[in-house]
Amino acid sequence: MSAPIVVDTVAALRAQVRDWRQAGLKVAMVPTMGALHDGHVSLVRIGLEQAERCVVSIFVNPTQFAPTEDLDKYPRQLARDLDRLREAGAHLAFTPGVAAMYPAGFATKISVGGPSSGLETDFRPTFFDGVATVVAKLFLQTAPDCAVFGEKDYQQLCVVRQLCRDLDLPVEIIGAPTVRDAHGLAMSSRNAYLGEAELDIARRLNVILRQSAAMLAAGSTEIESIDHAQQLLVGAGFQKIDYVAARESVTLTPWRRGHDGRLLAAVWLGATRLIDNVEIPAA
Ligand code: PAF
Repeated sequence: MSAPIVVDTVAALRAQVRDWRQAGLKVAMVPTMGALHDGHVSLVRIGLEQAERCVVSIFVNPTQFAPTEDLDKYPRQLARDLDRLREAGAHLAFTPGVAAMYPAGFATKISVGGPSSGLETDFRPTFFDGVATVVAKLFLQTAPDCAVFGEKDYQQLCVVRQLCRDLDLPVEIIGAPTVRDAHGLAMSSRNAYLGEAELDIARRLNVILRQSAAMLAAGSTEIESIDHAQQLLVGAGFQKIDYVAARESVTLTPWRRGHDGRLLAAVWLGATRLIDNVEIPAA
């Protein structure tokens, strides 16, 4: 595979996408914050099934981090990321700096309602405003035909879908299955913060969620299954649980039996916050 073109200005990005369009090529986009892993590679591959060209943005977006969060220590490894993009077959890496995305005097914020309420927002109240604002900018800068987002960040996927519907952004949003390691741990750039002992604990998260989702499907009440999950999580060594919640798959309103649902969780291991979610199997 050849190396992706790397551009850091909106003008250069638009010129390249315009050339592709004039040649009749469809364009997919994968927005990322870098520190690319197998999960991101799978998003690029899915993009390339839908379009002839794939743009990957690499931008650690400051507006989605609260002042207490890990913006400064978030892993940044551009050279390695570009290698991964070459292997994955991506055509262009868009790597804007903070000043290009948020020039002095920037004063706009997009706030999505609906699926952004609760769950992550209860603990990270400004997170989805930051995500929605940067994703809207990236879509307007790139004008892709479609964009691929991982189901690992399930609430984010629902928020981005709502954003595109509400603002008539002509981008088809494709949700991609979570890529997991051999033990079921969801791939995440933040897994790099975990030591070996913590990784062993982290790998219990998906197992416990799947057990509890199966309990729900088999007829246990939500309270019983969530209590069970919380006890197992604490027993496994997670120090803090932000939430374990059963929600409807599209709206993220509380799950009703007989409807498509997801069991979502956010937990802490030391200073690292992990999120994951699984489908509630149909009964
Ligand atoms: O999922 C992420 O990596 C980020 O939230 C995104 C969508 C790239 C926006 O900064």
